Amino acid sequence: MNGVPLLQVHDLQVEFALKGTRQTLKAVNGVSFDVGAGETFGIIGESGSGKTTLGRALVSLVAPTRGRIAHAGVDPTTLTAAQLRVERRQFQIIFQDPNASLNPRMKIGESVAEPLLVTGTLTRQACHQAAQQALERVGLSAAHADRYPHQLSGGQKQRANIARALTLHPRLLVCDEVVAALDVSIRGEVLNLFAELQRELGLTYVFITHDLSVVAHISDRVAVMYLGRFMEMGPAESVAHAPLHPYTQALLSAEPVPLPASMRQEQRMALNGDIPSPVAPPSGCVFRTRCPHALPVCAEQVPAWNELKPGHWVACHIAQADPLPAI
Ligand SMILES: Nc1ncnc2c1ncn2[C@@H]1O[C@H](COP(=O)(O)OP(=O)(O)OP(=O)(O)O)[C@@H](O)[C@H]1O
Ligand SMILES: [Mg+2]
Repeated sequence: MNGVPLLQVHDLQVEFALKGTRQTLKAVNGVSFDVGAGETFGIIGESGSGKTTLGRALVSLVAPTRGRIAHAGVDPTTLTAAQLRVERRQFQIIFQDPNASLNPRMKIGESVAEPLLVTGTLTRQACHQAAQQALERVGLSAAHADRYPHQLSGGQKQRANIARALTLHPRLLVCDEVVAALDVSIRGEVLNLFAELQRELGLTYVFITHDLSVVAHISDRVAVMYLGRFMEMGPAESVAHAPLHPYTQALLSAEPVPLPASMRQEQRMALNGDIPSPVAPPSGCVFRTRCPHALPVCAEQVPAWNELKPGHWVACHIAQADPLPAI
């Protein structure tokens, strides 16, 4: 690499106009971060916090309302349609539902070869050979290639999806809840496959999940998202073991028991109430209505994005470099 991060995101905002009203919803509201080549960047947050919308924006599936994205230094919005088609092969997203991108009427081998066939760069035979190799790389065999999606388990289908992405030699994969639909017993296997592929192929991941234990396990750095904003971002180890933002602390203490003892808080801090409507988010700090530490200033001013420790950023009026005591 020439020193430019593979992915650069600056002040990204994605807004949706709500049909039949004059209202808009800021699903992503001013998010900035970089991801280096070969890195895994985790994003966690509750349902509706904007993770999928951010992921879709990262691979040009939804247009930013404000801000900039660069893929290896190039803004995809400046590309021609033909250039964007090539770009899309290198910057891809894999979704939660393994059925979504597998045609139920196509054999697995055909589905895996399809994106490569569409590029028109290789013969049919070469595409099927590449699909076969990709299937083997993710732990599936020629016998699986000959089956239909309903004849595969959830884990096998997700492996086929990964193979489908691999045939195009991606550089960045946005993985959106890719193990959430799988049985707990096979999540570890599929996560290990992602880790192996990264080592082998030098892939870069943006790993989206609402499960802190998954993200802490696989990521180098983690960002915590709430109502379209990043609350905290830092090394996975620090965010998972010594979170500085009250929201992350609450998420961590709400984790179910399988969490390692070292990651559990002495006292569990419940998150009060539901996430406010993203159409009318709270003034100042968007988390303040659920924050046990909230002060008057939290309603008045949007907290700055401060680097409280090296590489560890927090948007909070009261957080300090040493973690707040649990309430
Ligand atoms: N196409 C759309 N039009 C209008 N609103 C949308 C659209 N897509 C998403 N939203 C809204 O944007 C917000 C963020 O949604 P998003 O799917 O990005 O959240 P998420 O963090 O991925 O949630 P989950 O954990 O449930 O997958 C939600 O309030 C959602 O209702
Ligand atoms: Mg989502």
